[in-house]
Amino acid sequence: MTVVLNGSPNKDGVTKKAIESTLKEEYIEIRAYQEKVKACDDCKYCNKLPGCKWDDMDYIYDVLSKCDKLVIASPLYFGALSSKLHDIITRFQTFYSQKYYRKVDMFQIKESVLIVTAGGKYPDMFNGPIATMKILNMLFGVEKYIEVFETNTDE
Ligand SMILES: Cc1cc2nc3c(=O)[nH]c(=O)nc-3n(C[C@H](O)[C@H](O)[C@H](O)COP(=O)(O)O)c2cc1C
Repeated sequence: MTVVLNGSPNKDGVTKKAIESTLKEEYIEIRAYQEKVKACDDCKYCNKLPGCKWDDMDYIYDVLSKCDKLVIASPLYFGALSSKLHDIITRFQTFYSQKYYRKVDMFQIKESVLIVTAGGKYPDMFNGPIATMKILNMLFGVEKYIEVFETNTDE
């Protein structure tokens, strides 16, 4: 199963088109701007206990734990993934705690894809999302990773 976390607020925007042209398979799409998910507030609940003190991520945690491929797709906003998408990603801290603090076995996600679309084109413009993706790939034990970047989308 492939899960796409789409960080674009535009339902049929260029990020959605890039997702469609990159993926050949069926996928579950989670649109970050449709979700009512709070950013991690570092309460440290998950340092001791599994899950999170909040239940707004339960569905996303469930599909992530079952997927074989995770796709992070976003427009570039000031050199970063969009903030709503990043809020969701901060909630993956529970998995970080599980793996590195509580040292409890974690599910693996074999494949990941980073798709970023951007209005302009300039050197190192995708370094922010790439840095985030490196952490996710380490966290989920990803073995196969590809990047898809689309530039000059505002022209
Ligand atoms: C708040 C905001 C910040 C943006 N920041 C950047 C940026 O840092 N670099 C860039 O090249 N384009 C930037 N853009 C342009 C978007 O990345 C671009 O229009 C994107 O492809 C839109 O994707 P969408 O149609 O899926 O929403 C920004 C757009 C917005 C609205």
